[in-house]
Amino acid sequence: MTIIKGTGSVLPETVVPNSKFDDHIFYDKDGVRNDRPGEEITAKLEAITGIRERRYVPMDQDSRPLMTEAARLAVADAGLGLNDLDGIIVTHNAGNILIGEHAFHTVPNMAAYLKNALEITNHECFAYDILFACPGWLQAVIQAHQAIECGDAENVLVVGIEIASRMLDPHDVDSMILGDGCGAAVFSRSPKDEGVVSHATFSHANKDIDAIYLGRSNNEDVPGSCWFKMNGKEVYRYATTWVPQVIKKALDKAKLSVSEVDMFLFHQANEKLNQAIANNLAHLYEIAAESFLGKLPMTIQFLGNTSVATIPTMLDLILKKKLGEYEISKGNTVVMASVGAGMHCNALVYKF
Ligand SMILES: CC(C)(COP(=O)(O)OP(=O)(O)OC[C@H]1O[C@@H](n2cnc3c(N)ncnc32)[C@H](O)[C@@H]1OP(=O)(O)O)[C@@H](O)C(=O)NCCC(=O)NCCS
Repeated sequence: MTIIKGTGSVLPETVVPNSKFDDHIFYDKDGVRNDRPGEEITAKLEAITGIRERRYVPMDQDSRPLMTEAARLAVADAGLGLNDLDGIIVTHNAGNILIGEHAFHTVPNMAAYLKNALEITNHECFAYDILFACPGWLQAVIQAHQAIECGDAENVLVVGIEIASRMLDPHDVDSMILGDGCGAAVFSRSPKDEGVVSHATFSHANKDIDAIYLGRSNNEDVPGSCWFKMNGKEVYRYATTWVPQVIKKALDKAKLSVSEVDMFLFHQANEKLNQAIANNLAHLYEIAAESFLGKLPMTIQFLGNTSVATIPTMLDLILKKKLGEYEISKGNTVVMASVGAGMHCNALVYKF
């Protein structure tokens, strides 16, 4: 089986409360200025998403320090040496975000940068990236599991690094939804009867292809064409329709029912959205949504949506007992599920 051997995460040091956006000038996608008072706009954001604050990396940092620190924490937590790793997979949305530039660099790739920063000398340790939007980290876990299952690797480090802050259009209200972060975990082969039980992935990539994309600022005077953009309603519709189904697919493969799940680690895009996913999942199994009470931890309120960093950060916080009352005990079955640009969604069933 493939088990989680160690986890690590880093919360960037700059805390950005909603009030920081009160004096932003917002426009809609057609360039029409939003004349509402700033406080009203940010209050609305909190009401519809649950987000109170998010964190950004300092402007004098590129993406590498955060990813290196989270990776070191995960490997130390696993009790392994850096040269014990047989593989590194890094997931992100824009490669290395450079200081002082609105530019993304993907050459060399992030896993190569990470391997270099960790000074790993074992050249047989592979180091590649996965570009799969927000579900990237979970997809990388699936690939790590496959590498371990087929005998290619014993220990694989999987990192999710998101520096959204540098691609957020200051004139788009949806920019307030995202934040920066990094989470990592080491996956290892184990003879024990625990670990990854099953997984499922859906890639639709059809009519929802433009639901999330990089494009121009809502303010036509702002240069650049790589600002984060989304059609929130389309994202909402896709996520609430397909995430429950991909979870069911993974649970069916594991021959488990939803009532046997002790905790759900959902991608954090919006408090209301996650509740709607849970309601639809309950509906699929014809059970009451109340049965999920206490099983749906959230980080969205203080981290915002940190894309690929979301699930590994939440997992690390729970395993280190830093997320309120949430605890995972031996024998617990946990479902992780994510969704994002493409559109894609995935789910993984894990027995602790
Ligand atoms: C974006 C999203 C929050 C909008 O929620 P919604 O309830 O569908 O919002 P609506 O478009 O109906 O707008 C409702 C109100 O909120 C306002 N609003 C919408 N988005 C807003 C935002 N980001 N910030 C502040 N106000 C916002 C609208 O102006 C509208 O105001 P009104 O009722 O006073 O006219 C929601 O669709 C969503 O969470 N989608 C997924 C988001 C996501 O995280 N995607 C990232 C990739 S996984």
